Amino acid sequence: MTLATQKWLEMDRNSVFHASTHLKQYAHGELKGRIITGAEGIRIKDSTGIELIDAFAGLYCVNIGYGRLEMAEAIYEQAKKLAYYHTYVGHTNEALIELSERIIKMAPANMSKVYYGTSGSDANETQMKLVWYYNNVRGLPEKKKIISRHRGYHGSTIASGSLTGLDAFHAHFDLPLPRVKHTLAPVYYHRADNQMSELEFSAHCAAELESMILAEGPETVAAMIGEPVLGTGGIVPPPQGYWSAIKKVLNKYDILLIADEVVCGFGRLGSDFGSLHYDMQPDLMTIAKGLTSAYQPLSGVIVGDKVWKVLEDGTDEFGAIGHGYTYSGHPMGAAAALCNLDIIAREKLTENARDTGAYLQQRMLETFADHPLVGDVRGVGLMHALEFSSDKAQRQPFDPALKVGPQIAAACLEQGLIARAMPHGDILGFAPPLVVTPVDIDDIVARTEKAVDKVTDQLIRSGDFSSREKLRA
Ligand SMILES: Cc1ncc(COP(=O)(O)O)c(C=O)c1O
Repeated sequence: MTLATQKWLEMDRNSVFHASTHLKQYAHGELKGRIITGAEGIRIKDSTGIELIDAFAGLYCVNIGYGRLEMAEAIYEQAKKLAYYHTYVGHTNEALIELSERIIKMAPANMSKVYYGTSGSDANETQMKLVWYYNNVRGLPEKKKIISRHRGYHGSTIASGSLTGLDAFHAHFDLPLPRVKHTLAPVYYHRADNQMSELEFSAHCAAELESMILAEGPETVAAMIGEPVLGTGGIVPPPQGYWSAIKKVLNKYDILLIADEVVCGFGRLGSDFGSLHYDMQPDLMTIAKGLTSAYQPLSGVIVGDKVWKVLEDGTDEFGAIGHGYTYSGHPMGAAAALCNLDIIAREKLTENARDTGAYLQQRMLETFADHPLVGDVRGVGLMHALEFSSDKAQRQPFDPALKVGPQIAAACLEQGLIARAMPHGDILGFAPPLVVTPVDIDDIVARTEKAVDKVTDQLIRSGDFSSREKLRA
């Protein structure tokens, strides 16, 4: 490490409060930082000259890849023309109008209007407020609870962090809020009954949901939120028939469905939206990340006709809606999103996510389906995961203290590859930019195989894993 890098990192330790970081370890230098200085395509570069393949697209957001000058120019042109004006009381800008029309055209047919924020968390915060407002306008003040799922991820503010179903986002923060309940995560790999088919497991998840609704009282439950494909909780595509079984239960009890499309939206699954991919028929949708490929912070809540009509009636009764951010509908965000959507359409990146995603799936299965350490290989489009197991046949997890997932992610880094150790369980996640090619996929899989083999050997040598196969490396 050069002296300059050391000095920058020291300044960083002295002044920056990092997200999702062990603060003490970082402040005392046990946890090393990395200064990212540039990026191009699917690769990022740090201040020491190390180049890494980013097989997680930042935080599954840089969908068009890094270093797009066209994006910089679109943002620059918008900044020259109109860098900012607010969208309160009917004020608007051309980029925003064009973008909103475009999103509504792409979204399921019942979608009506887009409200904008700057992060997935604030958009889900908006969702909760809208759902509460909706039922107040309807004269149903008791109908306020929101059901989310264990292992769901919806953000880290007070409301969205409550919706998130991961302990680390609740413990010591006095969350979740009492109006948020969590139902079963649809993880077929961890189904309780070995004999259940996927369809049976989906019916089981729907039955669990219905029991929760009945126990809480259907008159108290307003909405359910879910990611089309469970993301941060482990990259888990839904089991067959899951969303139609869930939707049936929600319809029965007059409960809205919010599709959190922050990761799945705009191409990642090989479809414009996860809601379309799985025919979820949501009432509300949350978008962020892929909307601008993270070149600008922009998020949105897409409101369906049914909810919109009630919101309109509400303002007739109560006056202008009391919800707004200074940066709602920011013109530079809108300009970035328009350019991003142009690139996705022109370069057929959604189709590439479907086709190259299928190739990634094939290569992952060929390489890891029979690997002694790998219990599950799963994915859809360009969202994939390997789940590691101490006993493949019994689907047993490792002792969390062994940190098998983080060890493998670290071994990937040694191979020049960023794959993400997901926070729940020993799961390695892959969600590369949608520009990834089959040649890149071969490279990613080859580097991953070396990393998994290395850790497998270490675990065998330390006596933490026994395998009938001989050491691989
Ligand atoms: C599905 C989903 N919803 C919401 C969020 C929160 O978005 P943000 O980090 O922009 O607040 C995330 C972030 O990873 C996400 O994956």
